[in-house]
Parts: sequence; structure tokens; C-alpha cells
Amino acid sequence: MEQANARTKMAGSMRNMRDHAVILNRRFLDDEQLIRSEQLAVLEEIFNTNVRDREMREISCHFAPVLRRDHPYHLALWGKSGTGKTLTMIYFLNFLAEMCRKEGIALRYVHLDLTTARPCFRALNDLACLLNASKRYRRGISLEELMGRIEASLEAYRGYLVLFIDEVDNVRRDRDTFLAFLVRRLPQQIRAKLILVFASNRLNWSDHLDPRTKSFLKLNELVFKPYDAIDLQRILQIRVRKALRPQAVENGVVEKIAALASREHGDARKAVALLARSAHLAEKAGCSISVDTVDEAARQIEQDKYTTMIRTAPVQLQAALAGIIEGVRTKRADLVGSGEAYDAYRAFCTRASLRPLTGRAFGDLVTELDMYSFLRTRVESKGRYGRTREIVLDIPDGLASTIYNTILLNFDVSQQASD
Ligand SMILES: Nc1ncnc2c1ncn2[C@@H]1O[C@H](COP(=O)(O)OP(=O)(O)OP(=O)(O)O)[C@@H](O)[C@H]1O
Ligand SMILES: [Mg+2]
Repeated sequence: MEQANARTKMAGSMRNMRDHAVILNRRFLDDEQLIRSEQLAVLEEIFNTNVRDREMREISCHFAPVLRRDHPYHLALWGKSGTGKTLTMIYFLNFLAEMCRKEGIALRYVHLDLTTARPCFRALNDLACLLNASKRYRRGISLEELMGRIEASLEAYRGYLVLFIDEVDNVRRDRDTFLAFLVRRLPQQIRAKLILVFASNRLNWSDHLDPRTKSFLKLNELVFKPYDAIDLQRILQIRVRKALRPQAVENGVVEKIAALASREHGDARKAVALLARSAHLAEKAGCSISVDTVDEAARQIEQDKYTTMIRTAPVQLQAALAGIIEGVRTKRADLVGSGEAYDAYRAFCTRASLRPLTGRAFGDLVTELDMYSFLRTRVESKGRYGRTREIVLDIPDGLASTIYNTILLNFDVSQQASD
């Protein structure tokens, strides 16, 4: 009987979730997790060309000579994270390839995505794979041989070759060698008309380049500005239409996310992530997305950022923060003197079986925590008793507890005795 009851309840709640689902199509909330071909299909539907109109026009202008069989310069795209550089360029290149096919112009493009940092050899190896010059990551061959293979694979090709080098500043070792190959050597070795497109979120990535490469590098530059609130509203509206049940989004939600995101960073990726998190929360709670849901989602994302950061931080940094939180709690104030903080840190180290660092090294850890905005320090004058450094926790109470518990779990120690 009880079992039957449980089954009825489960079926009821699943039906309820189905009928009140908030998210109807997850692909449109998570486009970056899709495989490339699917991503292009999603992109076609979500990319609002009005939003990046100016950039799209400039890129079209840059590539227009291709239609006259002329050879455009190279292109560099700058802009902060999430301003649409990758998306805009992929969208455009796809369109250009299609157009060239219709006009009978040979054009190939490859997207070398360097989102995670890698040395020159690895980056060239990835490029070789994209060009079918190598099947997989190869060790034990020289850089020279690798370059030779890339050149050999392009020997017969005479059309346009667009190499989109995304996040070029992530080539960490031998960046000069990497760029010298692309900018100086490759064009001389192959017959294809090479057009390089670089994207980066560091404006100054080319400052330290080898001057010889730099003088070869004829670049047109294009800056992507952060999205403003109106842009973000448009971007989000498309997602809402494509991914969510229309009645599940209350008035003011899109405006709120756009306002938060444009005020803080103008990053569309983060704005979409906030919409996605709000949708997940609402779905779990079985209600529609309200402005309050957005607040809660923003709070959670912020919290995740801090806890991830501290979970992966060096153990001494974690111990320092745990000590400071304990010091603040013991004092029942929102600040603690650096001497007391050091004592609390040492006590924590003893419990965690960690060798405490000297007071001076602890001071460096405090400075680092300040840099990551976990706390603030200020120097207080004590008149003729000199000056002391005071530490103020710069995170809300709830978050401090979550971080503290995360650290305890990491060290496998129990709460402070006075708690
Ligand atoms: N115009 C837009 N329309 C729809 N979605 C967009 C738009 N611009 C950005 N996005 C969203 O933001 C995400 C990030 O965009 P994109 O990858 O182009 O940024 P980026 O400038 O290359 O950032 P990064 O410097 O971090 O690589 C996209 O996957 C997409 O979800
Ligand atoms: Mg990008």
C-alpha cells in the first residue's frame, strides 16, 4: 500500500514538473557545451546581428576584397571576455565560406581555439590536426618537422585560407616562434592566400612581439565594446523565446539580468549563465522565474566563484583564511588585528597538522587574500603605541560560513572549539 502511495506521488510530481517545466530546450542556454556542428545551428538562431551590427559591417568590409579575388590584410579582434568575438567571427566565416562556394571562390577556414593555455608546439600540433596534417598529438618530432608537415599539407591548395587564432595570447612558450611561423614563414612556403585573424582579450598582447615579426604583421584592428543593457536584453530575449516556456518568465526578469550584467561587466556569457541558473532554480522550486529568483541565482553564482577559488587555492592560503574567519568570530566583531589573526591561524594550523609559516609570510598571504577580495586590510594608528594592521572580512556572513566549511572539509578538521 505504502509503495503504491510513493509511486503515485512520484508520478504526480513528475507530471507536475512536465506540465510546469521552465526550460523547454536546454541547448539554447548552454551553446558553448555543444559540438561544433550543433553550435553552428544554434548560433544561426540566437545570433542577433543587430547587436553586433557595427562589428559585422567592419568584418565584412575587411573581407570584401576576397570577392574581387584580391588579398585582404590580417585582422585582429580585441575586446573583453564575453563580448562576442568568437561567436561573431565564426558566424561570419561560416557565412563567407557559403558565399564563396556560391561564387566559385575556393576558401577554407579553420578555428584554432586556444582557450586553455598551451606552448607553441602544442598549438602548432593542434593546427596541424585541424589541417589534417597530423592525426593526433605527436611527441618526439621536432618543431621544424611539424612546421614542414603543415606546409606539405597545404602544398596543392591555392585558394584562400583563413586561420582564426582565437585567444592568441594563450600561446605561453615561444609565442614569437609561433607567430613568426604564421606571419613570416608560412605565407612564403604555400601558394594559398593566407588571411590570419587573431582574437584576444588583452589589448597589449602584441607589445612584446619580436620587432621583425611585428613589422611583417599588417593588421586591421577591430575593438568589441562590452555589451550595454539594451544589447543584453535583446540577446536574452532570444534565449527566453528559444529555451523557456513563455509564461515561466515574469515581467522585469530580462531587464534585471541585463541591468546587473551591463553594470558589472557587459559579458553576454555571464548574462546567459545568470538566466540559465535562474531557470534551473525556478524549475527546481516548481515556480516561474521572478526578479527574486534572479537575485538568488546571482548570489549563488557569486558564492560558487569564491568557494571554487578557495577550494583550489594553496593550503596555506586556505589555512590563513580559516584562521582569520575564526579570529573574527572569536572577537564577535567584523574585524581582527593582524596579531590576533596570526595567533588564530597558528591555532588552526595545529588542528590541521600543518606547519605554520612565519608572521611575515602570513602577512603576504593576507595581502593575497586582499587581492582576491576576500578581505580588506587597513592600517590603524594607535598614537604613541605605533600602528597596527587590521583585517576586515569583505564577504557576507553566509558566504564566510560556506567558505569556512569548505576549508574544514578540505583539511578534514572539525569546527573551532568555541563555536
Ligand atoms: N550577440 C550575441 N548573441 C547571442 N549570444 C551571444 C552574443 N554574444 C555573446 N553571446 C553569448 O556569450 C557567449 C560568449 O561569447 P563569445 O564566445 O563570442 O565571447 P568572446 O568575446 O569570444 O569571449 P572570450 O574573450 O572569453 O573568448 C556565447 O557563447 C553566447 O552564449
Ligand atoms: Mg572567445
